[in-house]
Amino acid sequence: MKLISTSNYEKLSQQAGEEIISRIKRNPTLNLGLATGSTPTGLYQELIKDHKQHKTSYKEINTFNLDEYIGISKKDRNSYHYFMCEHLFEHIDIPLDQTHIPDGTAKDLDEECSRYEQFINEHGGIDLQILGIGQNGHIGFNEPGTPFDSRTHIIDLAESTRKANSRFFESLDDVPKQAITMGIASIMDSKEIFLLVSGASKAKALATLMNGDVREDFPASALKNHGNVTIFADKDATALL
Ligand code: F6R
Repeated sequence: MKLISTSNYEKLSQQAGEEIISRIKRNPTLNLGLATGSTPTGLYQELIKDHKQHKTSYKEINTFNLDEYIGISKKDRNSYHYFMCEHLFEHIDIPLDQTHIPDGTAKDLDEECSRYEQFINEHGGIDLQILGIGQNGHIGFNEPGTPFDSRTHIIDLAESTRKANSRFFESLDDVPKQAITMGIASIMDSKEIFLLVSGASKAKALATLMNGDVREDFPASALKNHGNVTIFADKDATALL
């Protein structure tokens, strides 16, 4: 894993943004894996700014999001569909039918998981996957203990994850208890991975990732077995290294 440390969150977002834009220029039909949450929003701002200033085009890009809550409609402002439209898709020229996110309202959720996994494969797999990390080491919504050979599946969210994400909801009770997430093996199939880590609250997770063993009770440690991972971390996140 290559670690790029930056002085602050803005620089982290800029550097990750530049790398993504250069890959899109090299491969205008890139399959881009996306994450939600607070960490990538600065990066999405950079992509939008560049699109407006330099006209980098997303017309032939397909995007695949890592995860979606179960039981929340696409129109709900807490859904990851809504999040992605608000933070990225509405502001660039990507056709919406080329943006793909698991459907957390599907009638048959198991079938939706298989369909999503197959769908990514039919598109030739993900060229570049953007990841954040949970304080407990989760990637996507793969909580500690998720098998490394897992594919897209339904997961019970850890209480700590629900609490961390309750900042987006009116109350903790409103945070869904389950989500659909790409599995660890699905993520590991990506040709390249960018892991973004920002803030003091992630310092312990980053130190565990860099210095700890590869173990299923720390999902991000699977990334150590991937040959093409770049970690972008800001100063606060690297404090314990
Ligand atoms: C989001 C996702 C999660 C987040 C993680 C960190 O699609 O898959 O793994 O990346 O929970 O979230 P933030 O960035 O809000 O700290």
